Amino acid sequence: MVDPTIASAKTTLFILVDNTFQGYLVRCYILWKVIITMRIFLDTADTEIINQHLLSGMIDGVTTNPTLMVKSGKCPDDVYQELVDMGLPDISMEVGGNALEMIEEGRRLANKFGKAATIKVPCTPDGLWVCKELAKDLIRVNVTLIFSAAQAILAAKSNATYVSPFIGRLDDNSVAGLEVVRSIAEVYRVKNVRTKILAASLRDVYKVTRAFYNGADIVTMPPAVFEKMYKHVLTDAGLEIFNKNLEEIANATHS
Ligand code: G3P
Repeated sequence: MVDPTIASAKTTLFILVDNTFQGYLVRCYILWKVIITMRIFLDTADTEIINQHLLSGMIDGVTTNPTLMVKSGKCPDDVYQELVDMGLPDISMEVGGNALEMIEEGRRLANKFGKAATIKVPCTPDGLWVCKELAKDLIRVNVTLIFSAAQAILAAKSNATYVSPFIGRLDDNSVAGLEVVRSIAEVYRVKNVRTKILAASLRDVYKVTRAFYNGADIVTMPPAVFEKMYKHVLTDAGLEIFNKNLEEIANATHS
């Protein structure tokens, strides 16, 4: 008897390589799965750098915070407008103050910047109340400053679209940030939670990779870390040899 697993693998392979409409739909589904399960955001308010990196086709969104805004030297609304004009589909915009101030500002931003706006609130009782209210209006909310699975549970109960655990800052405080990501992912998996994990405060490529490995749906990082994702010393070394060989081939064919 044919092993059903092998039979199903063969069917999948056939659909992947065939040219039918069914095969096309399967390829679209796989591409969509990859896009939604491994999204990359840039963690910066520097619109010039973001614009340069958009050309790579790898960037799915941007996260900002008040510190990054101060660094940019621009007013937040101007930064958001530039990003919307570039076509960024998902921009985290942080709000502050008391609950009423946060909700008012969140609604104003969502009104002004439409579908691109994700309102970022802190993981506090006020922030989570605001999260719940904004979610009722179908506004995306990113609950930030998450340092434990317990906080991520409360954020999920508040209908957060994203939770942002801060990996680097946990590591700074002798707690394994990636393990917190793993715990959140496991709780969300077991309880079938739809809130997505947006791993933040990532300062090196290794942690970016491990964040996905541990269950993050999205990673956000400074542009300098994103640039390093392309790099490997063996790629450079291999490329140097291949380029030399290509020159040799070109010289041989022209002589
Ligand atoms: O997205 C949060 C991030 O900006 C914080 O990063 O390096 O200041 O902990 P870091």
